[in-house]
Amino acid sequence: MNRNLALEFVRVTEMAAIAASRYMGRGDEKAADQAAVDAMRSMLDSVDCQATVVIGEGERDEAPMLYIGEKVGSGIGPKLEFALDPLEGTTICAKGGYNSIAVMAIAEEGNFLHAPDTYMQKIAVGPECRGLVDIMLSPTENLKIIAEAKKCRVQDLTVVILDRERHAELINEVRIAKARIHLIGDGDVSAAIATCYPDSGVDVLMGTGGAPEGVISAAALQCVGGDFQGILKPRNNEEIERAKKMGVEDINKIFQIDDLAKGNLMFVATGVTNGNFLEGVRFKSWGCSTHSIVMRSQSGTIRHIRAEHHFDRKPRY
Ligand code: FBP
Repeated sequence: MNRNLALEFVRVTEMAAIAASRYMGRGDEKAADQAAVDAMRSMLDSVDCQATVVIGEGERDEAPMLYIGEKVGSGIGPKLEFALDPLEGTTICAKGGYNSIAVMAIAEEGNFLHAPDTYMQKIAVGPECRGLVDIMLSPTENLKIIAEAKKCRVQDLTVVILDRERHAELINEVRIAKARIHLIGDGDVSAAIATCYPDSGVDVLMGTGGAPEGVISAAALQCVGGDFQGILKPRNNEEIERAKKMGVEDINKIFQIDDLAKGNLMFVATGVTNGNFLEGVRFKSWGCSTHSIVMRSQSGTIRHIRAEHHFDRKPRY
């Protein structure tokens, strides 16, 4: 995959982030999401590639755009797969909270798990703990492993967990183990990536969130050298059937990071609202500024791109 494509994909997430950010704090999740989807879709065909959306807005019958299986790109160039979320953290954006991002991960054909829109139990850690944690161990055991790898005490660790009823038992166990907890309302992709940033103060993500977000997180963590494991947690038979239809043979399989995203990967995200590792969109008299991150698994290069968008010269904004 040509590394110069990375800049093309930044334009795509920038556009989605700017569109969504217009709805920051306005309490309208759907409008924010729709704006991001429309903007992302409108940019994708300008990128020279033949791509298929494998993680997107849902099945064809439920999403008019960026649906799973949709062909995007100019139709000329490398055969790629996209795992994308035009607005990860719709509620965050609607409330003007922290960590909503426009995001896409890119792989060569056949390198993403085609994950159904169901739940996934997850554990995500930074590079020091790669290959050490095991989702089948108890949270307490994993915390001990992480503390040992990071040469600190369990009490010094911070665990990010989505603030949901389903996590009552997990939260209780982590509290008994005496690790610190950061409960988040939404946005576990940002939280997973934060484990790889020592300054974020986040050591591990635990708990159950969206399976599509799991694949996107795995792609990011492959680029930064972190680790991720997941187990699908379908809520009913229909979701199990859907998973099988998408090629998941063993619904109880423990997905290692390579099962979720492998090969030559790119990960691109632009901040919609301020967050752990990205600033949100800021409007100015002349236009707006954006902050994006671009990562490649092959080189391990991480680029932060701060852009100024002058609306008088770019009327489409
Ligand atoms: P959306 O951007 O689709 O709103 O997802 C936000 C999110 O918090 C994800 O980060 C997370 O994986 C998932 O929702 C958790 O799902 P639920 O809100 O159903 O617990």
